[in-house]
Amino acid sequence: MKNKLKMSFLAEPNDANFRGNVHGGKVMKWIDEIGYALSVQYSGHYCVTKFVDDIEFLSPIKIGDLVKLEAEIIKVGFSSMRIKIIVYSKDLFKKTKQLNCECFIVFVALDEKDRKVKVTQLLA
Ligand SMILES: CC(C)(COP(=O)(O)OP(=O)(O)OC[C@H]1O[C@@H](n2cnc3c(N)ncnc32)[C@H](O)[C@@H]1OP(=O)(O)O)[C@@H](O)C(=O)NCCC(=O)NCCS
Repeated sequence: MKNKLKMSFLAEPNDANFRGNVHGGKVMKWIDEIGYALSVQYSGHYCVTKFVDDIEFLSPIKIGDLVKLEAEIIKVGFSSMRIKIIVYSKDLFKKTKQLNCECFIVFVALDEKDRKVKVTQLLA
């Protein structure tokens, strides 16, 4: 079972605020989306966000930057998956890459009746 997932896309004008930087809320949405996709891919169940660790925005993402998110499940409990997420952006003209954000998020796997369901342990 794959415990890693990557996503990349361009930062679009409607992602940005009045200074041309991506909204923090957009970055949080992308973090939640990759966490959801990875937790469902890994567990094979519907998953919900249970907990998000402190998010620190280290540097801004500009319109037109190539945004890359990398997610990895680092711990599995009974129904929970702790996921490390890193957000980078690349200025395609200057060919510079910067770290924008790093955080941890916990997803919980649920069955059809919204009961917590057992998730397969990570391979050592
Ligand atoms: C997810 C939900 C069903 C869990 O129900 P619950 O019985 O209250 O949850 P628990 O206290 O047993 O926690 C579930 C798991 O999350 C873990 N967890 C809970 N709080 C946590 C925290 N602050 N940090 C890390 N893990 C946490 C628990 O350790 C448990 O893990 P385990 O099953 O691997 O042992 C329920 O809290 C819920 O529906 N929450 C709303 C989810 C939601 O709407 N998310 C946003 C939209 S997707």
